[in-house]
Amino acid sequence: MPAAGRAGLAQTVPATPVLVTPAAPRDRRRMQETTIALVTGANKGLGAATARRLAGLGWSVLLGSRDAARGKAAAAAIDGDVEVVALDVTSDASVDAAARAVTERHGRLDVLVNNAGIIGPYTGPLETGPADLLAVYATNVFGPVRVTRAFLPLLRRSAAPRVVMVSSGMGSVGVTTDPRRYESTLVALTYPSSKAALNMITTQYAKALPEFRVNAVDPGFTATDLNGHRGTQTLEEGTDAIVAMATVAPDGPTGAFVDRAGPVPW
Ligand SMILES: NC(=O)c1ccc[n+]([C@@H]2O[C@H](COP(=O)([O-])OP(=O)(O)OC[C@H]3O[C@@H](n4cnc5c(N)ncnc54)[C@H](OP(=O)(O)O)[C@@H]3O)[C@@H](O)[C@H]2O)c1
Repeated sequence: MPAAGRAGLAQTVPATPVLVTPAAPRDRRRMQETTIALVTGANKGLGAATARRLAGLGWSVLLGSRDAARGKAAAAAIDGDVEVVALDVTSDASVDAAARAVTERHGRLDVLVNNAGIIGPYTGPLETGPADLLAVYATNVFGPVRVTRAFLPLLRRSAAPRVVMVSSGMGSVGVTTDPRRYESTLVALTYPSSKAALNMITTQYAKALPEFRVNAVDPGFTATDLNGHRGTQTLEEGTDAIVAMATVAPDGPTGAFVDRAGPVPW
């Protein structure tokens, strides 16, 4: 780690240890050789499958879960170096505590996968009001901003920082207005506009952080609790684009929107 990074670490480590004890120096050396990734909402669905695939690469995976027990159960089902991090993306206190815990335990973060998301209760577009939007934006829009901002100091200490925003084809104006796409048949204000906002946030972060790789992905219609398991893709297929952008090379794309087949129209 460069000297400037160490100085930054000293500034942000809180006086009182939070949640976990600092790693021993020997462990710190090992961790500098390992890619450390945090996946939010990783206790089930695409997040859990992403955590499993990244752990399979030999990475240290921080499995974010707003419920500790559900997180532990998910981690127990994954082989490899997996640690549960209690993290509710709608809570400043929770996200800040998680960032402090990761600072103390690992001192840096290489990859952040902003996966936690909700679809929210369906309301017809003409009946939808601001409160309906706010409820979904709290998780899908404000959540990734809250988590990214809190973990920026840790990401800045990585040699190859990567942020993956788990968006959706439903957030694409191009896809949702293409009559050949099933997404064009689903009409709602909340979820689609939340993911469209996330797409714009992705490209703005990419411009603001040129030394990072910040990309949005559309997993594709995947069988999870989010859609009552009506999705037609497997979890393996649904995580292909997430893993591709989590492992993107330092000179790879940034500010892109991709699915497992390639670029997605904005
Ligand atoms: N499945 C698809 O077809 C599809 C398609 C395009 C995009 N996506 C996106 O993919 C991402 C993952 O969705 P999924 O299909 O895997 O859904 P899922 O099975 O319902 O999983 C969603 C995950 O997000 C977590 N979560 C929700 N609110 C949270 C909060 N406030 N703080 C922390 N975690 C929270 C959930 O935790 P709890 O268990 O505690 O609720 C769960 O772990 C979402 O962003 C979704 O929009 C999915």
